[in-house]
Amino acid sequence: MPTVRTSAPGKIILFGEHAVVHSQPALAVPLTAVQVMVTAEKAADGAGITILAPDINQRLHLPADAPHTTGPVYNALARPVLLALEHLDYPIPDLVLTVRSTIPIAGGLGSGAALATALIRATAAALESPLDNVALNNLVYAIEKLHHGTPSGIDNTVIVYEQPVYFVRGRPIETFPIARPFDLVLADTGVSSPTHLSVGDVRRLYDAEPDRIGTIFAQIGALVKQARQCIESGDVEALGPLMDQNHTLLDALTVSSPELDQLCCAAREAGALGAKLSGGGRGGNMIALVTPDRAAPVAAALTQAGAHHVIQTTVG
Ligand code: PMV
Repeated sequence: MPTVRTSAPGKIILFGEHAVVHSQPALAVPLTAVQVMVTAEKAADGAGITILAPDINQRLHLPADAPHTTGPVYNALARPVLLALEHLDYPIPDLVLTVRSTIPIAGGLGSGAALATALIRATAAALESPLDNVALNNLVYAIEKLHHGTPSGIDNTVIVYEQPVYFVRGRPIETFPIARPFDLVLADTGVSSPTHLSVGDVRRLYDAEPDRIGTIFAQIGALVKQARQCIESGDVEALGPLMDQNHTLLDALTVSSPELDQLCCAAREAGALGAKLSGGGRGGNMIALVTPDRAAPVAAALTQAGAHHVIQTTVG
């Protein structure tokens, strides 16, 4: 078997996180500056599967007679591989899968969905049964459900298709054109925050106060529609104030944090056109919209304000 190499990018939610779980639209784009990469190589006959993740010091072995189950004993490395084998109706093959990732874990950049995407792609390619994007997206969504409980499906969709996505839960994928590229600076608070916790808290808040929280969801949905129009018409500067408004609404949903607020303020003070948290919140990453000449000063201000890692990227 020749060596197989697969990869999957991270993702940035531009607008609409959390409200998207409750059927509002959201906008997301792939982030190719960070990646999960998987290499699949043939192992000795009867060896089963070994999964190596040297970056996080993990080594996992699935013996040739391991049951085909994605149950709780298995972790984020094993589950996608087992699900792919179950889907393809294959017994455990003899493979060594090596995973490398530059996507921060639990940072709002889609590390879990990218890991599952690259692992399933590698397993299917090693068995010479490549999957189309629809099948792959369904499998990665199934993994997201195991990890998150009630994911909207936005992460798996944007990562599997690697295209800008206007996403509405349960609807077929809808991409949109980016009329004029725009620049973002991303900054990581360094606080790891599992998405299922903030999603669960927002759900409880909604259950307790359906009118107030439902209104916030609808306001976020309206911002998403305006943002899409701005991106499609090339009026990218107008996205800045929309980002600020989206951040304020996310704060009202209790998913911001002092670190995220501080980074957003630092970015605006350094000349960003707007800033917001991105992803599950409470930690993880924020994004700032910048003109090209402000990218470097905003990145420097974010590092100065305590960001653990800063990425400059152009969307479109
Ligand atoms: O934290 P992330 O990158 O998994 O993004 C989650 C986005 C949410 O809207 C908060 C949850 C979801 O399933 O859409």
